[in-house]
Amino acid sequence: MTDRNANKMWGGRFSVSPAEVMQEINASIAFDKALAPQDIRASKAHAAMLAAQGIISKDDAKKINAGLDRVLEEIAAGRFQFSRALEDVHMNIESGLEELIGEPARRLHTARSRNDQVATDFKLYVRDWIDGADAALGGLQLALARKAETHCDTIMPGFTHLQPAQPVTFGHHLLAYVEMLARDRGRFADTRARLNECPLGAAALAGTSFPIDRHMTAEALGFDRPAANSLDAVADRDFALETLAAAAITAMHLSRFAEEIVIWMTPQFAFVRLSDKFTTGSSIMPQKRNPDAAELVRAKAGRIAAAFQGLLMVMKGLPLAYAKDMQEDKEATFDALASLQLGVAAMTGMVEDLEPNGEAMRAAAAGGYSTATDLADWLVRALGLPFREAHHVTGRIVAAAEAKGLTLDKLPLADMRAVSPRITEAVYSVLSVQNSVKSRTSFGGTAPQNVRKMARAWIKRLEKAAGKG
Ligand code: ARG
Repeated sequence: MTDRNANKMWGGRFSVSPAEVMQEINASIAFDKALAPQDIRASKAHAAMLAAQGIISKDDAKKINAGLDRVLEEIAAGRFQFSRALEDVHMNIESGLEELIGEPARRLHTARSRNDQVATDFKLYVRDWIDGADAALGGLQLALARKAETHCDTIMPGFTHLQPAQPVTFGHHLLAYVEMLARDRGRFADTRARLNECPLGAAALAGTSFPIDRHMTAEALGFDRPAANSLDAVADRDFALETLAAAAITAMHLSRFAEEIVIWMTPQFAFVRLSDKFTTGSSIMPQKRNPDAAELVRAKAGRIAAAFQGLLMVMKGLPLAYAKDMQEDKEATFDALASLQLGVAAMTGMVEDLEPNGEAMRAAAAGGYSTATDLADWLVRALGLPFREAHHVTGRIVAAAEAKGLTLDKLPLADMRAVSPRITEAVYSVLSVQNSVKSRTSFGGTAPQNVRKMARAWIKRLEKAAGKG
């Protein structure tokens, strides 16, 4: 049995329906229906331009415009019948429009092709996503900055090689992620600025002989200008690649924080607590509280980075201009962008929910001889030792403390003097974790006063930007 819709759009040339497997591999409607709002937006702009240029009548344009609004309503209400025989979102919508308004719908495809149509729709989709992601990332930054302000003097061990290195403040650690996310937002903003050229009107690949006004459609759709080369306009997917690359980097940042939450949640660390809202129990082990959301955020980085790789491979070696290969650009992109959006939302929830265990963090910061650098610095400042020598002396003092099972601030002065006789009582002022963080006042350092100032500046900036949006 042949589908009544088969070959509806090019029936003049074709007499036999496509093979079942041809339909299956060829149709994209199952996933590209996500582009319906953008497709309708672009079609409305196109119809208005065709009428303004006298290519279709004003009356037809009016009917098309109203009809497209109704199609969108039908789709939003879940009443629209998508047909696989009509391949993709473009032909489904055009066919649905024809059912509603008849003949004028058949004039809509004048001076355009699905090639410029899909490039325009996909660009609009990616651009819409970037705008949403930017706001969501701003929300995550704000949650981090607020928590950082609250904990600007909560001491924790800072790590290198995941070995205790020097004490830092929890607020300082959180603000590190605010900086990363600021760069992420910058990358999305750069991508958005570069993608904002409109492919519509490039038609199949060569432009059109109709007297269209590409500047008009570009402006109506919020683009800065029409894309300058019709071949490039339909062949370009840089905008998706760049967005995925930026998304992969953002996801990598989120995965690092997610990993830290996982580590901090283990009873061995016990640095933070997440409430029941962001943890799960075990079906067999009653004592468990698992950070599943953090683990899933950590894992999403994999599929997001894979989407970038995948699209890069789809595009590699494709001759100009459009090829059906490019239909493979959508599924992984949709999935990756939705995954990041969800990851950002989950991370924002976790940050708001997260309660640090100040006692455990402080105790861990005090262990591991984390003020050894402070001792070395004191030897340089107070005794005039060259840093290399101070480093060596400190190493011997740490060894002495370790032998006695004491922390540096508990080691008797006599033991220190046995290593370096000129050390005085004053050394103890730099050996506490409290004084260590307090002393790190250099720009960008971990001193609570710095952190408070930075957190407040971020909060002010982010609240202002959010209020504006
Ligand atoms: N569904 C197609 C895509 O996603 C639309 C463009 C089809 N163009 C064509 N000449 N077959 O790429």
